[in-house]
Amino acid sequence: MAPALRRINSLFLTLELCSRRNLSVAVSLRVASKGEKASQYAQGETHFGFETVKEEEKSSKVHKVFEEVAHNYDKMNDCMSFGIHRIWKDIFMQRLSPVYGTRLLDVGGGTGDIAFRYVKYLENSTASLDPNQAESHVTISDINKEMLDVGKTRASENGILTSAKRVNCSVDWLEADAEKLPLPDNNFTAYTIAFCIRNVTHPQKALEEAYRVLRPGGRFLCLEFSHVENEALRWLYDQYSFQVIPAMGQLVAGQWKPYQYLVESIRQFPAQEEFKEMIEAAGFRCVTYENLNFGVVAIHSGFKL
Ligand SMILES: C[S@@+](CC[C@H](N)C(=O)[O-])C[C@H]1O[C@@H](n2cnc3c(N)ncnc32)[C@H](O)[C@@H]1O
Repeated sequence: MAPALRRINSLFLTLELCSRRNLSVAVSLRVASKGEKASQYAQGETHFGFETVKEEEKSSKVHKVFEEVAHNYDKMNDCMSFGIHRIWKDIFMQRLSPVYGTRLLDVGGGTGDIAFRYVKYLENSTASLDPNQAESHVTISDINKEMLDVGKTRASENGILTSAKRVNCSVDWLEADAEKLPLPDNNFTAYTIAFCIRNVTHPQKALEEAYRVLRPGGRFLCLEFSHVENEALRWLYDQYSFQVIPAMGQLVAGQWKPYQYLVESIRQFPAQEEFKEMIEAAGFRCVTYENLNFGVVAIHSGFKL
């Protein structure tokens, strides 16, 4: 075999072995996690993917992941999901159904996908109310400056700021931790968080912050990877996640580890019912959820009443 071919062959062999090792960790973790979630970690410890880390370390590790992927983030989203993430986000915005005058806080807003859809939704609105009479607003908040910087560039390249002006919508960018928002109480009419909360060290604190910054009557909406109930589909999904995604990260973006973390972090996030209870525990009422693609992702909704 030619040396170049041998190198490619051995790269694929290494990728396959790594994937298999991680899949078996995933499977054993799922078995171990049944009914013993609370006792899984010692005091002051948490998970970073399948790794156990000190709570104070997690945030900087997550920060590094998104710093590394920021410039390939949108391209990789399209590759990994075959573009389906766009449909999930469109459905998410339809569920929110914003109107002129909505004051939205999008937490973990990253490169702006949700906020841009919000502006576009208002622009395409057929509501008879004159947008000039009702000022709308969106704050795109993220802990990571690199992600926000990519978002700002995209906003000007895609004409989002012009669209926002057209519908009398102000746009702010905010570098902040979802667990500790530097924002006043009762300030927003809607709070969205998409594919972010599983990365937060204390999701319960983030939910409490969401409750605090929303006005009474305000809507909480979360889009997040969730749990596939059907065993056969879950097996297929696990194969794809562990065998393909990190390898795709390596081939397309030259990075394995962030994508390994992505698939591991999804398995660590509470299932639909448990997350619903967490949202209720934060004070939200009328909490419901909707599975998309058999639970690959779920939309959780709640109201501050
Ligand atoms: C997977 S991206 C999602 C970005 C965007 N919402 C989307 O749907 O495309 C997750 C984002 O959450 C941010 N993030 C992670 N931990 C956070 C925290 N504690 N507070 C705020 N943002 C956080 C990351 O920096 C990253 O931009």
